[in-house]
This record gives sequence, C-alpha cells and structure tokens, in this order.
Amino acid sequence: MNAHDSEKVIGTLVGQGYSQVATPEEAELVFYNTCSIRDKAEQKVFHRLQQFKKDHQGKTFAVLGCVAQQEGEKIFEKAPHVSLVCGSASYNQLPQLLVQLEAGNRRVTGLSLDTEETFETPFARRDNPHRAYLTIIEGCDKSCAYCVVPFTRGPERSRTSASVIAESAELSRAGYTEIQLLGQNVNSYRDPSPAGWDFATLLDNVGRVPGIRRVRFTTSHPRDFRKEIIDAIDRNPVLCNHVHLPVQSGSTRVLKAMQRLYTREEYMHRIAWMKAAERPIAITTDIIVGFPGETLDDLDATLGLLDEVGYDSIFSFKYSRRPNTPALALDDQIPEEEKTRRLAVVQEHQRAIQIQRNAAYVDTVEECLVEGFNKATGQWIGRTSQHKTLNFLRPASDADLTGQYLDVRVTRAGPNSLAGEAVN
Ligand code: 5AD
Ligand code: SF4
Repeated sequence: MNAHDSEKVIGTLVGQGYSQVATPEEAELVFYNTCSIRDKAEQKVFHRLQQFKKDHQGKTFAVLGCVAQQEGEKIFEKAPHVSLVCGSASYNQLPQLLVQLEAGNRRVTGLSLDTEETFETPFARRDNPHRAYLTIIEGCDKSCAYCVVPFTRGPERSRTSASVIAESAELSRAGYTEIQLLGQNVNSYRDPSPAGWDFATLLDNVGRVPGIRRVRFTTSHPRDFRKEIIDAIDRNPVLCNHVHLPVQSGSTRVLKAMQRLYTREEYMHRIAWMKAAERPIAITTDIIVGFPGETLDDLDATLGLLDEVGYDSIFSFKYSRRPNTPALALDDQIPEEEKTRRLAVVQEHQRAIQIQRNAAYVDTVEECLVEGFNKATGQWIGRTSQHKTLNFLRPASDADLTGQYLDVRVTRAGPNSLAGEAVN
C-alpha cells in the first residue's frame, strides 16, 4: 500500500512539472514516505532523517505517510530541516501544498483526517510494467487494539466502481496483465455510487476486463470476508487462487483482547469455504506473538491453528506498542526476549508446514508470470497464481521472457520457493 502511495505521489509531482531522479543526491526536493505499523519502522524514520540532514545540506525535505500523520508538527521540532509533513489522507492536496512550499513556506502541513475523498490520480508512476497496484478503499473503520492504522490513515473511503473499472481498463491498454487490488480491508469495500457494488461484485468485474490475466487482492479482514468471494474465484480463473487472511492469533481469548471481532471457530469457518473451492486456494496470514497477556497455552493454540489451516506462508511479528492504541494501557506486557523466543517458535513451526506443502507441488505444471532473470543462478523467476515463487530453467532460449506467461513443471521444492523447468 505504501509502495503504491509512493507511485501515486510521484505521478502527482510529475503531473505538476517536477521530474523524478534516481537518487537523493540528484534531488533538490526529497520526499520520504514512512511507515509506523511497528516501532522499529518508526525509529528508522528519525534515524534516516538525521542521515539526510548530514548528507544532503541545503535540500528541501518532505515527510509523508503514517509517521507524518502520527507525529504531525512534532516532526519540525525533531527534524527542523523538514519543510512539509503530510499524511496519506491529505495526498490529494499535494499540488496546493507544493505551491506553499515553492513560495518559501518552511512549515507546510497536510494532516487532516477529515476527508470523504480518496487519492485518485491519472498519473501514477508504476514501478513494475506487468503487475499494477490499484487502490479500491483507503483507511480503516476497525479498531484492533494493537493497530495504529485507523489513527494514521483515517476512516474508510471507497472509490466508485466506475473509476476502478476505468483504471483497470486503462492498465490493460497500457500493457499490464496483472492487477492487485489494495485496501486495509478490501472486504468492506462499498461502492459509493448508485450501483452499490460490494467487494465480490467488484472483484468479479475487474476479472472480466479484457486483457487482464490475473487479479489479486489484499488485505482481507476475516469478519467481513464473504463466501461470495470464493464463489467468484471459482467462477473465473483470472481471479488468482490465493487469499491472504490475517488471523493474528489462534486463541479466541487473545482475539477478543485484540478486538478482532471473530472467534477461532468463525475464522475456521471461512477457511472451510476456501478448502471446499474447486481450485486449490493458497492461504496466507499474519501472526502477532506476545500480545499483552498471551500465555503459553495461547501460543500453543496459534501453533495448532497453523497446522489446522496448513498455511502456504505467513508473516509473523512481535507485538509492538503503538501510540494511541487501546492495547497500550494493557497490563501484562510480555518481555522482549520472550517475544523473540515465541516468534522463533512460530517461524520454525511454520517452516516445517511449508516444506510439506510445497513438496506436494513436485511434478505438477504451474502457469507462471515471469518476473525477471536471476543472473547468479541462471534461472528465470516466475510467480504462480497461488503467489508462489517458482524459479525455472528454459535452456533453449535466450530471449527476455519477463512479462510472459509460461507453463513450468515443478521438479524441486523448498520451504520458501519451488524450482522447475519450462515446458513450453
Ligand atoms: N505490532 C505487531 N504487529 C502489528 N501489525 C499491526 N500492528 C502491529 C503491532 N502493533 C501486523 C498485523 C497486521 C500486519 C500488517 O502488521 O499482523 O496484519
Ligand atoms: Fe489495523 Fe485491524 Fe484495520 Fe487491519 S483491520 S488496519 S489490523 S485496525
């Protein structure tokens, strides 16, 4: 989501007559997009800003994103060389803010969360020529006890279905074949126009845009995840058979403390829809260990859930205390070393599951979108519909295959990727 925000901001600047350069050294104006989801990411920002000051005397600096929104004008105190601070809910005001900056104002802010608008720009500068990100909903109306996002990205705003479909068609005309729909919670997408589409209807229709061969979406919230999404995937092979459904914990008690609004059983009910689908759906998730009050039994419940679901991969994190969040006030914070230990336990447990799951792909043929070539190994890098990395050889060809769709026979499997040989 942040990467795509940067693509849109760059596009907006280019639309205003600025030009993009490859390195901060060449720039007069340096924009720094930031993340505050965990403390480590936030600390990095202030460290980097100090470094910028030393290395880039005399330049104009702007701080964007969640740290900008969270810290606001305090950034000017901590880093006086910064001249513009702007959160994501105010990006559509960037052209006006730039005018103030060019006029010599050294304390320019865009920090209002009070907006009904989404950040739409015809100028997004996409990095990847084949796969395009496309935002359908911004902000989040949930209030998970650990999460800073509702405070930094503001309330939910959905784009109209007409504008999403128009951008998808535009992307197809520009040669993109894969679209990744983005939102903090795509499942609560609600078309603000009279058509009133829900997420499953939108997904279905993006999957029918001529020329688009793959559609993905992230992120889903289990509470709002509907069976219609699986039905749509079953109907249309363009919709990738991969669902990222963050669970956070396998313990209903912890889920309640996290204010996740579902029980383990309700989550497993959604997993059962996926397992009953006609095409095998890859399932991935996010896990937080060491939430305040998490016991060893709770951790065991999470390990049991990993087995029960059989995830294709997971992102796992140590709980990090965030400003403004309800969990900040909870007693029984877990010591850092214990969080580190629990994280390692989860990751090791999952690694064994992945080895087993990936082994089942040996001897199957998977269609891959070719992402590039790895000179060191002499292999092409492919991505399956299930979002698995499949590195492969194609001996008789030295043409650039990037962006093509090829069938690849899987010959080997590891915990994090597959390897094989092209069959066409
Ligand atoms: N501490 C640790 N992990 C967090 N996440 C969100 N907030 C926190 C936090 N305070 C994780 C969740 C979420 C993912 C994007 O980041 O697992 O799904
Ligand atoms: Fe954060 Fe929860 Fe919203 Fe996800 S659903 S962005 S974890 S508050």
